[in-house]
Amino acid sequence: MGYRIVLNFEDGATRFIDCNAGEKVLEAAYRHKINLPMDCSDGVCGTCKCRCEQGDYNLGEDYLDYALSADEAAEGLVLTCQMEVFSDCVLAVPAPSSACKVAPARFAATVSAVELASDSSILLTLDLDAPETLDFLPGQYVNLEVPGSTQHRAYSFSSKPGERQARFLIRNVPGGLMSGWLVDQAQPGARMTFVGPNGVFFLRPVRRPIVMLAGGTGLAPLLSMLEVLADQGVDQPVHLIYGVTRDGDLVELPRLEALAARLPTLTWSVCVADPQSAQPLKGYVTEHLADHHLNAGDCDVYLCGPPPMVEAVRQFFQDKGMAPAAFHYEKFAPSEAA
Ligand code: FES
Repeated sequence: MGYRIVLNFEDGATRFIDCNAGEKVLEAAYRHKINLPMDCSDGVCGTCKCRCEQGDYNLGEDYLDYALSADEAAEGLVLTCQMEVFSDCVLAVPAPSSACKVAPARFAATVSAVELASDSSILLTLDLDAPETLDFLPGQYVNLEVPGSTQHRAYSFSSKPGERQARFLIRNVPGGLMSGWLVDQAQPGARMTFVGPNGVFFLRPVRRPIVMLAGGTGLAPLLSMLEVLADQGVDQPVHLIYGVTRDGDLVELPRLEALAARLPTLTWSVCVADPQSAQPLKGYVTEHLADHHLNAGDCDVYLCGPPPMVEAVRQFFQDKGMAPAAFHYEKFAPSEAA
């Protein structure tokens, strides 16, 4: 039986490898032509030390305390030359992907649809050339290359892994390079490429209530996570607050309704900063975070939005004197240069 190992490199690149039962993770990586850091491969030097962020494993019995101390092991550090896994795992590798001779993974696709979803965002749907070769964690992003240029832009999948199409929610930036191409030139049938996946903003195993906070197109990675949660089914409450600037910025509300129908523990609301909004909730997401959502801090927070929103949420928890059990966030740049 094999397990899926996710290798998250220091530069944000991610690769997926299969590891057979009884096989050392280091061996599995080399079988996939990924040169994880190593020196002795005998549990002596500690060069192969990584952090296991998810999954079940044993550390092996044949290593020196000098290479991995009991305290390090208790913190989740592992020696990849010694560990054996008993489930799918996520490993943080303290080295850039280039140092491990990991070539960028490039994917090709054809534009299926480009829709102006709101005053400020575009829905892009791509038909993947080889969907079976694309794996990612819900919440991750890729670098989408702007056709006819040498530039790329980072966008999170709003679709879930394992589909034949990839969907993205893209901020429509006046004068923006990608936005301009999508609005003025993109047609169904156009070819696009992207590199990835990347990022450490991804859905973790559900162990406690989840609070999701989205700002604008920061909704995209949370939609991907919610699709997976709806497929899995979860007992824990999941509450999403989706904030935008104006009513015309709201997108994907029918999709959120459909997700809530599939995932009974999901509740969600939208809030609009514009005081003239027709929505009942006005202001910023932090004004609508209630104590019962926060479960006295025993909750996992997933936050994706522009930097001021991320800082406002941090400040919110600081002012409350509360540290959530886990705080995962992704900041996206508010604009893109043409
Ligand atoms: Fe030396 Fe793993 S490579 S301890």
